Parts: sequence; C-alpha cells; structure tokens
Amino acid sequence: MEHLLSITDAEDNIFELLEQAKKFKKDPIMGQPLKSKTLAMIFEKASTRTRVSFEVAMFHLGGSGLYLSASDLQLGRGEIVEDTARAMTRYVDGVMIRAKEHDDVVKFAEYSNVPVINGLTNLEHPCQALTDILTIHEKKNTFKVKMAFVGDGNNVCNSLLLAAALVGMDMTVVCPEKYGPNPAIFKKAQGYAQKSGSKLEIISKVSEGVKDADVIYTDVWVSMGDEKDASERMEDFRDYQVNMDLLKMAKPDAIVMHCLPAVRGQEITDEVINCPQSVIWDQAENRMHAQKAVLYELLKE
Ligand code: CP
Ligand code: NVA
Repeated sequence: MEHLLSITDAEDNIFELLEQAKKFKKDPIMGQPLKSKTLAMIFEKASTRTRVSFEVAMFHLGGSGLYLSASDLQLGRGEIVEDTARAMTRYVDGVMIRAKEHDDVVKFAEYSNVPVINGLTNLEHPCQALTDILTIHEKKNTFKVKMAFVGDGNNVCNSLLLAAALVGMDMTVVCPEKYGPNPAIFKKAQGYAQKSGSKLEIISKVSEGVKDADVIYTDVWVSMGDEKDASERMEDFRDYQVNMDLLKMAKPDAIVMHCLPAVRGQEITDEVINCPQSVIWDQAENRMHAQKAVLYELLKE
C-alpha cells in the first residue's frame, strides 16, 4: 500500500490492517515504532475526531502530527496543489489531507514523495470505513452481517460499500432515489462483492431496507459543503430518521452506528444515540486504533 486515498488502496491488506488495529488497541504505544516521524495534517474542512485521533496517534507512536489549516497555507492564497505537495513532502514523512475535492488529494499524492492519507473528501472517507468494519467485527465477531446505511449515499456510504464488499459483508443503502451512492463506486463495489460473496443493494423503502439488519448506520443529512441545499434535504430525508420505530424494524440485537458529528433530532434521535444498542462512542474511539494501523503500515521503516 503506497497511499490510502480510497479504501480500495487497502484491497490486499485490509485484514492485516484490522489485525494491527486490534493490536494497537491492546497496546497503544507498542514501543513507539514511528519515533521522530512527522505527519502533516492539512484540513480544508472542519474536524474533531480525525484531527485529534491522528495527532494523538502520531504522539503515541513516537512521532508528531502538524495541524495545518489549508486557509493558513499558501494553498489558501492560490499556490497550486502540485507545488505544495512537492515542497511539503521534502520535510515530512507522511501527509493526511481532508479536502473538498477528491481529485486534489489524488493530485497531491501524484506529486508527493511520501505516503498520503485521505482524511475525508467529497467522494470517500476511507479511515472511517476501516474503523467501522473494525467496530462491527469487534461487536459481532464476524463480517457475515447485514448493514443498513440509512440516509445520504455520500462519502462515508461510498467508502463503506467498498469496505463491506472487500470483507464480505452485506450492505443495503436505504435512501431517497436521488441520494444514492456514487454510481462508479457502487459498480466497483459490486465487482469486489462478487468475489467476496457479499450482497449490495440500494432500496428507497425504509421498512424493506432495514429489515433483518444487524447494523444500522447513519450520517448527517447535510454534509460539509451541502449547506446551500439544507432545507430541500430536510424535506427529502424526512422519512429516513433513525429513531426507535426504525430500530425496531431491524434485528432485536442490531447495533447502531454513526460516524459523527450527529445532528440530534435530524438523522438520528437522542433516544437512539443513548440507547444500549448504540456503539457510537466505541466507534469514535476506534478511529485512533485503526489509523495507528494505517500510519504504521505507511510510515514504518
Ligand atoms: N467522523 C469524522 O471524520 O469526524 P470529524 O469530522 O470530527 O473528523
Ligand atoms: N458526510 C459527512 C461526514 C463527516 C465526518 C460530511 O462529509 O460532512
């Protein structure tokens, strides 16, 4: 694995990454294998979990993370991505980028001489997906489960489809017709699913999509960058709220997941976030363990 731009970059070593993440969860420091390594962390959008978990992960592993707001870099004044990448990667051992445009992260990687990690783009959120399948395995002890992703077929959903297909998990995207996942990604995921034996589907009827689900997953209705369409989205997603009634349609022992941040009372209710079936805080914690595995794989000597 040279970079982690899409979760498909981990196609050949996804199971090893998960095993490594479990080891880091048991032993968070593990002899500090990344001593004096540095990770530049460029943020073009807000973040709580990604920023803190990457920075603390680098510290635990013996290195350090540099928080860089894109608007404070020359990038924010018009320096092109290629030039930023060429200069910056002479100083650091790795770069994590949260960008608006997925293509900018791909371009950065093209001109970088160190590994690049996608910390969320409009198209994918691979670190989240790796964390999520780790969390599901931890809770269910198998990948042979059905996940129902309820809501916007966005960046998180796209990466989850690919990850689910890679590990052989069934996944149903339950969304209004015009909010389906990226078609090219869905097609790619179907290719993986054929090999792994997982079943992927997109369904707009909530009761049908959620039926027999072992995992109910949701994300915000208004992602970063979608703010201009907020009122239309509120209307379009009205029937897709993860509430107690919806949860009752899934298996009785279904777990509830959310990548966070959540807008309580919109895509998910307080009651569901706080109910015993919710594994949301363990999921959030797992970001750090999963990312340590990625950092170790990409930055170790
Ligand atoms: N889930 C996630 O990426 O959270 P942040 O936006 O807080 O980083
Ligand atoms: N889909 C959300 C995920 C946030 C972690 C967004 O892009 O804003």
